[in-house]
Amino acid sequence: MKLFFQQMMAFLIVTLSTLLIIGLVFIQFTTDSVYRNKWHSLQEYADSIFQQSVVLENESADVKEVQVNQLQGIEKLLENQHIHFTIYTMDGNTVSYPTRNTSPKISKKQWESLQKGETLKLRSNVTLQDNKRSITMTEMYKPYFNREGELVCVVSVGSPLSNVQADIQKVQKNLLMTFGFAIFVAIIASYFLSRYLVQRIQKIREAAHKVTEGDFNVKLAPGRNDEIGELSADFNIMTASLKESNDEIKRQEERRRAFMADAAHEMRTPLTTINGILEGLEYDAIPEEDKEESVHLMQRETKRLIRLVNDNLDFERIRTNKISLNRHQINLKQVAQRIAKQLGKKARLENDVIKVDMGNDVMVYADTDRLVQILFNIIQNGIQFTQNGHIVIRGQNVSDGTDIQISDNGIGMTADQVKNIWERYYKADSSRIQTKGESGLGMSIVHELVQVHGGKIDVVSSPEKGTTFKLHFPKQTKKLDG
Ligand SMILES: Nc1ncnc2c1ncn2[C@@H]1O[C@H](COP(=O)(O)OP(=O)(O)OP(=O)(O)O)[C@@H](O)[C@H]1O
Ligand SMILES: [Mg+2]
Repeated sequence: MKLFFQQMMAFLIVTLSTLLIIGLVFIQFTTDSVYRNKWHSLQEYADSIFQQSVVLENESADVKEVQVNQLQGIEKLLENQHIHFTIYTMDGNTVSYPTRNTSPKISKKQWESLQKGETLKLRSNVTLQDNKRSITMTEMYKPYFNREGELVCVVSVGSPLSNVQADIQKVQKNLLMTFGFAIFVAIIASYFLSRYLVQRIQKIREAAHKVTEGDFNVKLAPGRNDEIGELSADFNIMTASLKESNDEIKRQEERRRAFMADAAHEMRTPLTTINGILEGLEYDAIPEEDKEESVHLMQRETKRLIRLVNDNLDFERIRTNKISLNRHQINLKQVAQRIAKQLGKKARLENDVIKVDMGNDVMVYADTDRLVQILFNIIQNGIQFTQNGHIVIRGQNVSDGTDIQISDNGIGMTADQVKNIWERYYKADSSRIQTKGESGLGMSIVHELVQVHGGKIDVVSSPEKGTTFKLHFPKQTKKLDG
């Protein structure tokens, strides 16, 4: 069944059952009160009939005589109200009004109750003599006592039940009309309420449909502060995170594609060189005196290929956390001086000076080989991109670890180039580096290595002025030890 009809049914069932319960209680209540009023007025009639028509002895309050003719005045009134009565005295006399009325016999059991002072309220069927109709009567018997507490007389007053029934029927009729009107209002109200609810759900459904079609930009308007409103808010959060993961998947895919293209490109250059030389050798196209140089070139290109493969594997291993770090406290100055010495020859070729500018007490908590790898790569870049300049290595202990700075006054980079420096195969000026046979993997490896140490790395650079790499290594903690 459609949600709309389910909602409508639910509203209607609730409304109707509420109305029904209220209606039944109301009818019961009015019936009770109509009867209560009836018995009350019958009792008052009995009292006034007793007072007006029964003459009592002064002292004993025994019945002296019954004078119905006194009642002539109110006869008309009683007739209008369809009331009849009977006065029973203890000597067995009964006086009835109207006279044609056959007064019902009082049973023995009833007499016993009356003698105890109980007023009897009965409903009895009486057959009218004139048209032989049987009608239901409400009949009340009230006992009266003398001063000694003996029963002296009983007055029974009755009237047809139809009077009461007419009253109740009137109430029921009114109630039925109200009921009908209420049902009409309930149907209209539940129709609009259901439609409103279903429309709100429909909006979420349409949005969900768009998401399944790949549109992650859908956004539901923040609705009311209820469950559907919360659902809309959750839906928005869900699509936002779906969009994020979708974007991330696209980014990853783009990177994978770029990586494949770059890796293929990087490998093609040395492979083409090697292949060219091999063909030259095969067809004896290389002069004897150049052969040695050609073999050297092939060696260089093969080494470059091996380095490329190794660097790639290294990067993947670091990135997927497959390397284990063997960390200790390392004296930074000693390590920096060792690297400066190793790279001294290369620096001299570029006419560069490497300076180590720090105290003897600067300590770094790191894996020695990996720290060397990091510093080596950065300093090597410094030399590579600086001519007739200097590369300065600074370090200092700070409260939460160690800060290291490596600055050069070389060609520097633009903001755009700085942004991409950690990307694999990124070379800011590929034409210049191509000749030097670099692969563009150094900085991406450095970046990953610093991260597995729990550290940070930043670059500040401006073209023609120089570049500064700022590194931070956290100090030893229990957690990092593990
Ligand atoms: N100190 C620097 N000054 C100017 N540019 C730099 C500096 N360091 C890095 N770069 C730029 O960032 C690019 C990426 O550096 P990275 O070390 O990753 O690659 P590479 O040095 O070209 O190759 P590899 O280090 O893999 O042999 C460099 O090609 C260069 O353009
Ligand atoms: Mg490099």
